[in-house]
Amino acid sequence: MRQDMLLVVDMGSTRNTDVARAIRALGVYSEICNYDVTAEEIAKMPNVKGIVANGGPNDVVDGQKIGLSDEIKNCGLPVFTFDYEDNGTVHPMPEEDEAIQEDLRSFIFDTCKAQANWNMENFIADQIELIRKQVGDKKVLLALSGGVDSSVVAALLLKAIGSQLTCVHVNHGLLRKGEPEQVVRVFKDELSANLIYVDATERFLSKLEGVADPEQKRKIIGAEFIRVFEEEARKLDGIEFLAQGTIYPDIVESGTKTAKMVKSHHNVGGLPEDLQFELVEPLKMLFKDEVRSCGVALGLPASMVYRQPFPGPGLGVRCLGAITRDRLEAVRESDAILREEFAKAGLEGKVWQYFTIVPDFKSVGVRDNARCFDWPVIIRAVNTIDAMTAQVPQLDWAVLQTITARILQEVKGVNRVCFDLSPKPPATIEWE
Ligand code: XMP
Repeated sequence: MRQDMLLVVDMGSTRNTDVARAIRALGVYSEICNYDVTAEEIAKMPNVKGIVANGGPNDVVDGQKIGLSDEIKNCGLPVFTFDYEDNGTVHPMPEEDEAIQEDLRSFIFDTCKAQANWNMENFIADQIELIRKQVGDKKVLLALSGGVDSSVVAALLLKAIGSQLTCVHVNHGLLRKGEPEQVVRVFKDELSANLIYVDATERFLSKLEGVADPEQKRKIIGAEFIRVFEEEARKLDGIEFLAQGTIYPDIVESGTKTAKMVKSHHNVGGLPEDLQFELVEPLKMLFKDEVRSCGVALGLPASMVYRQPFPGPGLGVRCLGAITRDRLEAVRESDAILREEFAKAGLEGKVWQYFTIVPDFKSVGVRDNARCFDWPVIIRAVNTIDAMTAQVPQLDWAVLQTITARILQEVKGVNRVCFDLSPKPPATIEWE
């Protein structure tokens, strides 16, 4: 391993990731661990140069106030403590307070003598070594959705083990225009990956026929996805490993010993138990922006690496109610127009997420001097930091007019375009 490491020990803080990120921002790798970590465990971790004990309000576990054990205090590594006072004041984060930032910097570089050697080149080199060591000459399977995380895992594994990797791209028929083609072009044609492309559109759409309940739709899509992937996996011989695009927030948000679970970790579980794979999760210590930098460093196209967040059930959640093929086509085509025009207007990367929705009702209009009865397309564009709250940006009227004109002219079965002005809360970003 090429990188030095600072260990952030969670002593009940709610902001462990902020501290870990602040250390990484100084160029030193950091990981978060539980308060009851042992000296033996730390000794096994590579290149640990110091410990940051991060206090906070959740410092009582099972009725006992937690503290750093003597064993850790005396393990020979320097310890920096972020105190938490019982009067409820939370210490400011390093990025919020220059003095704290300076203290932390001095601790890391002067006291611990850590090197600022956390960068993508070293990360990639280390991971290639680790992947090769873990996998040996065995084979690895990856569900390649075309999303940022699975794409970066694929690119990294290709670099590490090349033809020992098999990727399966399941097209559930709910992807955006051009997405399955891009996955095939980048991975099969350009990177020469073993890629199995499964067009399961018909399967998914027939399972979804007549299903209007959003939760039911999500369940069907999720379950069918696993079924298709499993069928492909069973056709392959000698696969011992399953690669996953698990990233650090997936692990941290699944709960530490002092924090409540935020959400369950969607990358784990789901596959049948008799498909016994060992997991390969090379991105599991990276934050999202680091995953993107890793993708760039591996040469993936910007359109893949800076892709907007896209729900697993895809356009299925934007074709409201029971999905029909013609309405799904209207969602896909209007979304493509919106993305194209946002790119032309220089809004790519400036607006956090934007897409279209087609509800399952029609309204009266007039076309070619005759009455028409068609769907509306709703434009959604939001800015947010963490998707928990969101604001609607003021967009240039002319851009909206161009998009409207194109949608009305080019998308079949649509006679109105609406713009959703609602912030979250009380609305959500998606419509179902
Ligand atoms: P909401 O609609 O809850 O969306 O305000 C917040 C963010 O999450 C994305 N989203 C999903 N992502 N699977 C995902 O992977 C899903 O089922 C899903 N539903 C919503 C949404 O696009 C937004 O960025």
